[in-house]
Amino acid sequence: MDERLWSAYDAMGRDYQERAADSGPGLYTQELLARGAVVMAFDASPVMVDLTRARIADQAQVDQAVLGQPLPYPDGAFDVIVCALAIHYADDRAVAFAEFWRVLRPGGALVISTQHPTTDWLRKGGSYFDVRLETDVWHTEAGDQPVRFWREPLSALCGYATGAGFLIEKVIEPLPAETMRGLYPDDYQKLTTEPGFLILRLVKPRDPMAAIRP
Ligand SMILES: C[S@@+](CC[C@H](N)C(=O)[O-])C[C@H]1O[C@@H](n2cnc3c(N)ncnc32)[C@H](O)[C@@H]1O
Repeated sequence: MDERLWSAYDAMGRDYQERAADSGPGLYTQELLARGAVVMAFDASPVMVDLTRARIADQAQVDQAVLGQPLPYPDGAFDVIVCALAIHYADDRAVAFAEFWRVLRPGGALVISTQHPTTDWLRKGGSYFDVRLETDVWHTEAGDQPVRFWREPLSALCGYATGAGFLIEKVIEPLPAETMRGLYPDDYQKLTTEPGFLILRLVKPRDPMAAIRP
């Protein structure tokens, strides 16, 4: 098996796009562009990079880069970073948060979403406090696709964030969009009663000492 966790997305790329037309590769880039932002985006999977480029043409720079490794951007380059449903694939989450901190300007914000740790624990069993690689199997047109991800407790994720210097401004356990009720009634019902995802809004304080003062 390919050791790189994003290889599943190389294999699934087009299938993922078709099934997730309202959440697939490049959607956040497109939405941010529509709101007037100047956007730079990256993904580790060359296939997902190509699909995003095809979606947004030359309106934004889209790079192939790996979350959890040094990013190809200068210090303080960004006002806001959006990292949707990818941090659980990064082998080194501490480095991922340290790099987000580095490339964000003081006063900037990181909005990051991931699978809810409680749900991962209930689905996979063992100790809630385990930090380990898990495997889901996604059923795609091309056949069953194993998708590996890091499962860990909430305190581990928050620890990487605060360890890098971020302040946690907001914690959101999102409910499904109303449009899901008709389109995906089973998922809608499930996500209305069980946590599916977790979103953190983190800020890089203008005054770094704010992170350690009581
Ligand atoms: C669940 S998809 C999320 C895509 C999009 N952000 C969305 O919300 O629909 C996860 C994405 O993370 C990418 N990925 C996986 N491991 C990565 C890594 N270490 N660095 C950067 N991207 C990675 C995959 O290629 C895939 O495009």
